[in-house]
Parts: sequence; structure tokens; C-alpha cells
Amino acid sequence: MDLLEAMEGRKSIRAFREEPVPREVIEELLRYASRAPSALNLQPWEVVVVSGRRKEELSRRLLEAYRRRRIGCGPGMAVPLPIRFSRRISKMVDKMGPSVKAMGHSLDDFVNEGSCNFYGAPVALLLLMDEVFPKGRLVDLGIFLGYLLLAAHALGLGACPIGLITSYEDVIREALAIEGKRVIVGVALGYPDPESPINLVRTDREGLEEFATFLGA
Ligand SMILES: Cc1cc2nc3c(=O)[nH]c(=O)nc-3n(C[C@H](O)[C@H](O)[C@H](O)COP(=O)(O)O)c2cc1C
Repeated sequence: MDLLEAMEGRKSIRAFREEPVPREVIEELLRYASRAPSALNLQPWEVVVVSGRRKEELSRRLLEAYRRRRIGCGPGMAVPLPIRFSRRISKMVDKMGPSVKAMGHSLDDFVNEGSCNFYGAPVALLLLMDEVFPKGRLVDLGIFLGYLLLAAHALGLGACPIGLITSYEDVIREALAIEGKRVIVGVALGYPDPESPINLVRTDREGLEEFATFLGA
């Protein structure tokens, strides 16, 4: 698949077939993702691949914590969002709403509980970074995530980044016996369910005039 085609075609997948993802395919995916650039070639990312019973147990604990603490998906801002950003969230909600309704869920439950359950994907990836690294190295993890999402798409897999679970980092650390590392983001990974209405959603992007400034010539 052409790279630009992959960049245009990739989207978050939130419904998966039951079919497991073979270990060799996951390894191939991670090898592609690890071609991501990083400052000083530090490659500060670490990935925990969770499937089967371990994934069920992790999801169970996350769901239980979510139902107790009710911290859902949100922009995580201390101050109110400027209007142009909250408008973007509304647009995304408008795109997803009808599909979620057609599936018989409320959007809040679908997204929050779905995220805790990695949307039923057979594989959950957890992207970690050693606590020795400063915040600046999160950029490297972000690029790694981008590479991983594009490679997943090119390999015929579906993926959805899951940031919500970082609100339950303590639960993840305990479930997976993680020490000395931060949980940066999760990823739901599997083969897309082509029948599910939620996988037909394609989000918009703002035009260049919203985010690009040209100075000089
Ligand atoms: C860092 C990050 C965290 C995200 N966290 C979640 C999440 O917790 N749950 C979820 O359903 N989607 C999550 N998403 C997916 C975004 O909602 C999605 O990327 C965005 O709406 C654009 O849609 P697209 O990926 O289909 O292009 C996350 C995306 C990123 C990059």
C-alpha cells in the first residue's frame, strides 16, 4: 500500500472480528513501528502485548475501576477549552452518534466502557516509557504510535488508540506488574469487523487555514 494512501485511509477501528492476530503479525507490526525516528535514536518506547486471559483480566479491572471512579474520555484540561476545540469534539460526536445509536448504545457508555475493554479487540497494546525520561521524549512515543497505526492499517489490521486508560494507570501497573515505567497510551488491535456501523465513521479534519501560518515568501 502506498504511504499517502495509508495516511488517507487509516481511521480508528472500534469493532473487531474474534479472529486472533498471529504472533508473527504483531512482531512484524512492531518492527515497522520501531522504524520511527527518536531523539538521539534513544527509542524510548516499550510495548506490552496483552491478549487472551490476561487481556480479559485487564479489561475487567479497568471496567470495574471506571464504574467506580467515572473518569471518562475527555480532553483532560484544567481550564475550559477554547470554542474552536470544543467544536471539533462536537463534530466527532455528531459523526459517531448515529452509528452508536444504531448499535443500541449511548455514546458515553460505548466510548468509555468500550475503551476500557479495548473495544473487544483480541489484542491490547500498552505503550510505556521508562520514568528516567523527561516529558520531551513523549514526542518520540507519539511518533511511534503514528507509525504503528499506519503500519497496522497497511497490514490489514484495525487499531484504535486508547488514551482513556491512562486515567487508571495504577490499575494497569498492578494488573501487569509494571514498575518504573509510565503508561503513555493503549491501542486496541485486531482485524476490523467490516459489518459494524461504527467502523464506517470517518472523521473530518480542519482546513489548513485553521492551523497553518505561512510567513515569508
Ligand atoms: C492519544 C490518543 C488517545 C485516544 N484515546 C481514545 C480513547 O480513549 N478512546 C477512543 O475511543 N478513541 C481514542 N482516540 C481516537 C480518537 O478519538 C481518533 O483518533 C479521532 O477521533 C480521529 O479519528 P480517526 O482516528 O478515525 O481519524 C485517541 C486518539 C489518540 C491519538
